[in-house]
Amino acid sequence: MFTGKGGVGKTTCAAATALRYATAGETLNISTDATPSLSHIFEVAGDGGLTRVQQSLYINELGETEIKQMWDEKFGREVYEVFTSFVSIEYEEFVEFMTSVLPGLGDEFMVDYIRELGRNGGYDTIIWDTAPLGQTLALLQTPALLEKHLRMAPRIYSKLKVGNRSRESVLDIIRRWERLSADNMEFLRNEVNFTMVTIPEALAVEQLEDIFRELHRYGLRVRQLIINNVLKDRGSDFLLTKARQQQHYLELIYDRYSDLDIIELPMFPYELKGLERLKEVAEILLP
Ligand SMILES: Nc1ncnc2c1ncn2[C@@H]1O[C@H](COP(=O)(O)OP(=O)(O)OP(=O)(O)O)[C@@H](O)[C@H]1O
Ligand SMILES: [Mg+2]
Repeated sequence: MFTGKGGVGKTTCAAATALRYATAGETLNISTDATPSLSHIFEVAGDGGLTRVQQSLYINELGETEIKQMWDEKFGREVYEVFTSFVSIEYEEFVEFMTSVLPGLGDEFMVDYIRELGRNGGYDTIIWDTAPLGQTLALLQTPALLEKHLRMAPRIYSKLKVGNRSRESVLDIIRRWERLSADNMEFLRNEVNFTMVTIPEALAVEQLEDIFRELHRYGLRVRQLIINNVLKDRGSDFLLTKARQQQHYLELIYDRYSDLDIIELPMFPYELKGLERLKEVAEILLP
């Protein structure tokens, strides 16, 4: 998974990495960004959903439709039926439960979808491109949050009369849901390699600390850090000034994150789009 603040080069790095892995096996570059750009960067006509870029390389931009479908497949109708039977009974508790749990459900299903693809999708590698950090942190936290909320759910449910359903069947749904969240969290912890992308600028570097702390809180470990947009050319006053400024932040990063595998990606004088450009990036990221 490639993660990081907005606009730092996550999609570029993810796409280049996917391109490289596709030379060795079936590779899927999947995006959980609501405004995806993979089809743009690979220059293919993507209408969302699964698209083949070239031999062994596929992209998939996960959208609302897929999420709704997953929701329906896993629990949708059952949970809806159960929830609506509460409304007239213990409305406040119901609302509290709904609002604390439901906003993250789309995220939960995205994680679950990728976990499933990892198991049964037939890919050797899945490269996961994410939305800017706020959204992604929510996505990563959701399984853990759901797990926590669901732990108190039986207490709430046991007080309620559940329409024409028996209490046991409701508890079954909760248990199933709890298991799903636990499995997804375990997947994130044990099977996902996190690569953080950043740039050598004040705000980006400041935010790194918070991001790492947040990820550690959920037991998620980042192993690799890409510093993007590093200026190598110092052939003008402008570039020299800019490079000196970057130097300060580069030193800070190397100092603070010496335990990570750090890779510098230079700033290119052109847009990184299309297979040829992405190959250049891949040669630097995966020499
Ligand atoms: N090293 C680089 N040199 C030159 N341009 C770059 C470099 N890295 C990224 N870019 C350009 O910067 C822009 C943003 O990159 P990209 O879309 O990969 O960022 P992102 O982190 O995925 O953004 P978002 O948070 O919006 O998803 C793109 O136009 C890309 O071509
Ligand atoms: Mg992106």
